[in-house]
Amino acid sequence: ARLVVLVSGSGTNLQALLDAVAADPRGYGARIVAVGADRDSIAGLERAERAGLPTFVCRVRDHATREEWDAALTEATAAYEPDLVVSAGFMKIVGKRFLARFGGRFINTHPALLPSFPGAHGVRDALAYGAKVTGCTVHFVDDGVDTGPVIAQGVVEVRDEDHEDGGVALHERIKDVERRLLVDVVGRLARHGYRIEGRKVTIQ
Ligand code: GRF
Repeated sequence: ARLVVLVSGSGTNLQALLDAVAADPRGYGARIVAVGADRDSIAGLERAERAGLPTFVCRVRDHATREEWDAALTEATAAYEPDLVVSAGFMKIVGKRFLARFGGRFINTHPALLPSFPGAHGVRDALAYGAKVTGCTVHFVDDGVDTGPVIAQGVVEVRDEDHEDGGVALHERIKDVERRLLVDVVGRLARHGYRIEGRKVTIQ
């Protein structure tokens, strides 16, 4: 399967996918054909370039409207003919056009156990709530914010001392689990195929 990965930051989830492909190019079942971002000068893009992959940047502020940005992101992504698109720390909500084109094959990873703590601050919000366990969710993207069908989740315990650094160490422990979960899920989706029936996702 051909993957396009979208990033906004450090790209450690992208790196985990790159490493999985490099470790077993045939066996993994998927390969990354391009990496896209909504901003430039980020470590995620450097990781892609280091791996010799084509990259594209689609910034909201370079477009007159959000719809035009969405159309540009859709075209830039579609140019690489992906079977799956992975939002790996991509901090933008895509629009109608993107979903019409990639719905059902666009997955996201979120650093909380959805439906708890959706949105941009999943780690901080779980901590502030006083949750004793949190984790990560890999899910298909629909037109809500972190509301699409869940594919897999991983659990991480919150420690008392997590309240002292505002969730930095907790997020690192979540990302540890998240990277492994994402690599596993993407590989299985690519190798086995899958069905989405309502909210139920079955990997075949
Ligand atoms: C991940 O925890 C992802 O869920 C999120 O931001 C983090 C991205 O990390 N919302 P990286 O860019 O893959 O290192």
